[in-house]
Amino acid sequence: MERRDFLHDISQATVAICAGSLLAACSKSSDNNVTPPPPGGGNALITANLNSELTSVGSSKTGGSVIVIRTAAGNVPASFVALSLICTHMQCTVNYDAGASGFKCPCHGSEYNLSGAVTQGPAPSSLKKYTVAVNNNTLTVS
Ligand code: FES
Repeated sequence: MERRDFLHDISQATVAICAGSLLAACSKSSDNNVTPPPPGGGNALITANLNSELTSVGSSKTGGSVIVIRTAAGNVPASFVALSLICTHMQCTVNYDAGASGFKCPCHGSEYNLSGAVTQGPAPSSLKKYTVAVNNNTLTVS
């Protein structure tokens, strides 16, 4: 075998081995380590079972800096509001006051109604709203 033929054969064998390794790394077996999305979808910020949660008007559930509140009877999206709990003034966390049907910021006194609109400054804008979906008595906020 000529030296040139030997080097050619070696380089082709090396390419075949490397390609095989790359294909193996991309195979289905490596997908076993992927964490499945949470119930209700991968983008859900809050999920709730409406058979046992959020059953009365005014009740709420939080997830991180997001809150969902039941505002009316019926398990339809229009019966809920989902809002950020981050004040639009200087990003303090606002407190939900079910009795006052709104939110109060402990930092500088801003207040918001249940729609998230500012009712007392200095907050410059409404609380961020999120989307509520209801499917088979499972509520999701995204
Ligand atoms: S941070 Fe809420 S009023 Fe200033």
